[in-house]
Amino acid sequence: MIIVKNLVKKYGSVVASNNLSCRFEEGKVTVILGGSGSGKSTLLRQLTGLEAPDSGEVHFDGLDLTSASRAQLFEKRKKMGMLFQGSALFNYLNIFENIAFPLREHTQIADNVIKTIVTMKLEMVGLRGTEELMPSQLSGGMMKRVGLARAIVMDPKVIFYDEPTSGLDPISTGVIDKLIKDLNGKLNITSVVVSHDIESCFRIADRIIILYYGDIIAEGTVDEIRNSTDPRVIQFINGTPEGPIPFTRTDRNYLDEILTE
Ligand SMILES: Nc1ncnc2c1ncn2[C@@H]1O[C@H](COP(=O)(O)OP(=O)(O)O)[C@@H](O)[C@H]1O
Ligand SMILES: [Mg+2]
Repeated sequence: MIIVKNLVKKYGSVVASNNLSCRFEEGKVTVILGGSGSGKSTLLRQLTGLEAPDSGEVHFDGLDLTSASRAQLFEKRKKMGMLFQGSALFNYLNIFENIAFPLREHTQIADNVIKTIVTMKLEMVGLRGTEELMPSQLSGGMMKRVGLARAIVMDPKVIFYDEPTSGLDPISTGVIDKLIKDLNGKLNITSVVVSHDIESCFRIADRIIILYYGDIIAEGTVDEIRNSTDPRVIQFINGTPEGPIPFTRTDRNYLDEILTE
């Protein structure tokens, strides 16, 4: 579904994507795992065509996004659903209008059909009957679910999730994990999930890609990752403080800065 070839993205001296090549298979849940600053969000932005890489290719559903025209990119992006960190709901719109928003923006679908679609999507995330509520009335977990209903409202081929469970309590995390897995199966969709939550990752992933300072250090099934002998992978999945990962890139930048002053 998505094939990445030799992707490079630098921000000044920081190499956020260091010549990455990987693939995201159709119908599967692939989790991009890594510590803070490892380049997960950067990779996600290149996968969705939100940002152009310095070099390399991103083939989405047969089209290289990096050399596509604006119009081609626009068409492909209609096939992508995105759940951003923090849900990104419109505070001034009620739940119904939040979910209906992409349909009103991108289609000519009649109001009564929009109503049916929104009801159906809300049902899928277990929030039927909340149409009239405002985002501020919902819990964090519910907001994520509304964001998810909106992400699937255009029947995307791929859903991208950036840290879908960050900041949620364990029960809400479990609900979101189950939804990601269930929707992936039910809608026969491809899912790309960015996460730093190992437990959550092991629950939902068909395949895992582990990033470390802009490099892919491991790629495989849950069992392959669990049985990895790479010390960096072992440290990451066990969360041990002592090990080859000294500190996050943010720490490193900070240290570099104060040490050169
Ligand atoms: N827009 C940007 N401008 C400058 N540096 C950035 C930008 N986006 C990311 N970075 C840097 O690239 C690295 C990877 O960041 P990011 O992809 O956000 O990591 P993650 O999502 O894994 O936490 C970090 O060192 C970050 O500071
Ligand atoms: Mg991030």
